[in-house]
Amino acid sequence: MKYDNIRNFSIIAHVDHGKSTLSDRLLEATGTIEKRNMKAQLLDRLEIERERGITIKSVPVRMDYKAADGGNYVLNLIDTPGHVDFSYEVSRSLAACEGAVLVVDAAQGVEAQTVANSYLAADLDLELIPVLNKIDLPSAHPEQVKRELEEIIGIDAGDAVPVSAKTGEGVPELLERIVRDIPAPSGDASAPLQALIFDSVYDNYRGVICYVRVVNGTLSAGQNVRFMATAQDYELTEVGVFKPEMIQVGALGPGEVGYICASIKTIDEARVGDTVTESARPAAEPLAGYKKVKPVVFCGFYPIEREDINQLREALEKLQINDSAISFEPENSAALGFGFRCGFLGLLHMEIAKERLSREFGVDLVATAPNVVYQILLTDGSVKEAHRPSDFPEQVRIEEIREPYIKLSIFMPDQFVGAAMQLCQEKRGSYSGMDYIAPERVRLTYDMPLAEFILDFHDRLKSCTRGYASLDYEHVGFRAANLVKVDVLLQEEPVDAFSFICHADQAYHRGHAVVGKLKELIPRQLFEVPVQAAVGKKVIVRMNIKAVRKDVLAKCYGGDVTRKRKLLEKQKEGKKRMKQVGHVSIPQEAFLAFMDVT
Ligand code: GTP
Repeated sequence: MKYDNIRNFSIIAHVDHGKSTLSDRLLEATGTIEKRNMKAQLLDRLEIERERGITIKSVPVRMDYKAADGGNYVLNLIDTPGHVDFSYEVSRSLAACEGAVLVVDAAQGVEAQTVANSYLAADLDLELIPVLNKIDLPSAHPEQVKRELEEIIGIDAGDAVPVSAKTGEGVPELLERIVRDIPAPSGDASAPLQALIFDSVYDNYRGVICYVRVVNGTLSAGQNVRFMATAQDYELTEVGVFKPEMIQVGALGPGEVGYICASIKTIDEARVGDTVTESARPAAEPLAGYKKVKPVVFCGFYPIEREDINQLREALEKLQINDSAISFEPENSAALGFGFRCGFLGLLHMEIAKERLSREFGVDLVATAPNVVYQILLTDGSVKEAHRPSDFPEQVRIEEIREPYIKLSIFMPDQFVGAAMQLCQEKRGSYSGMDYIAPERVRLTYDMPLAEFILDFHDRLKSCTRGYASLDYEHVGFRAANLVKVDVLLQEEPVDAFSFICHADQAYHRGHAVVGKLKELIPRQLFEVPVQAAVGKKVIVRMNIKAVRKDVLAKCYGGDVTRKRKLLEKQKEGKKRMKQVGHVSIPQEAFLAFMDVT
């Protein structure tokens, strides 16, 4: 096979601009999938992806295409997700390509992730083909969108391809442009093998399946290969390509995209970003891998049934193979028993992981309220990372608390600027700039603490801009802030599970909400229970749960002993379901409701 007939490309776009629909049309137009076997968004394989209409995982697919010049080409398309939480998937896929099709909705114009994804592609020196999609819509204004592409992203949009992914109009022209403009991969078939692992999935029968892009040399079944990060050797049991289902082939040469299996059992053996080489003739250097992404949002996952803890661990291990951005470590909570502290790249990432655990692995779990990661400068000069409030040392040992910040870009019609600015201000944002991207559309940029952003920023922005805003953010490091740890005390005893971190200005307000909620939910006990919120030694809120003696026998007249005994036993059982903290029994609902308040 001739490698100059290969084109490797991704489709990148803002959410809902039509990537998946366009991929469907390309599959159809190249005859990769027959029309009668076509279902919408064929590449969105996960059940959640179809239901939510979003792409989460990148899926590669190989198409054969006979171009107008008479040549037979192999087009490898790697579909990518659009949501900001998954941008690490985008950059990974892009690293396996020479070009990218940049899809912009011609009725919507350039949005936040159009810009973010184009920058990712430009960083990797990919050839960009701009596509104006949805030109069948009467509201499409392609000329204006071309100007936006030129002004905001700085690419030449003069020859952008007008397309309707819905009707198929413009798709044949796009295929020709892909062949013409995207460079063929360069690589040397006789050089030592170097193949990049850009993704992996777990299969019950075959173990870890690695998605690879060969850069130099050849991969073939039966070959002995080495994973360079671990220096472990394996015999390849299977080599194949995606059509889009996996089809075995004899070998993969330079520039080709496919998969390999080698009875690999754990993710640590086959890391995404690692280079596969030949054991007999290893390459001198691995390929440039990926930056390891660090989770920034943490929460606890606890099985609903305590005995399911091992099942949850196994499910998390398998999910991590498919989504290496997830981290987890065991933790123990007074209220919920044994579970795991899990780290994610954002809230959507967390939600999706929770749903995948339940759907793909059948584990039902309780997720605790998310918090961000904090850096704490101690008085002895060392820096400690805190993943949960209980990681915080005592107040006297803390010199400074730093929290993660993001740079937020919001794209929206200018009529909503006032409302959006007010929201950003309220969320401790600091204004960084504003510019007009079209006559009535602006880009607003703010620096904001991630903690404020994850709380409810997205929902509130949506409602104050009636859904017309799009946003993107990047992490800009840690900044010192006046943060405090608020402890909640029952009968003067702090209860770990109720502690939370917040800005000093909000401590009273949020402390009040939590104490009020607990007062409502904790049943009266035989003695008075003071509920307090405190910062360090200083109590900022106090309420009392009045004492009561609950006489369950009060309604029992007469001497029916069995009935009395039944009632007493019932009371005993009720007590068992409560959590005993000191002398106070706390129902599980209180722990869960607490998570809604903070
Ligand atoms: P994510 O996977 O979430 O990133 O979205 P996406 O970019 O893949 O968008 P998708 O293909 O799911 O399309 C979003 C919506 O736009 C769907 O309702 C499509 O039916 C619709 N759509 C896509 N292309 C066209 C088009 O050319 N014309 C019209 N009228 N609608 C389109």
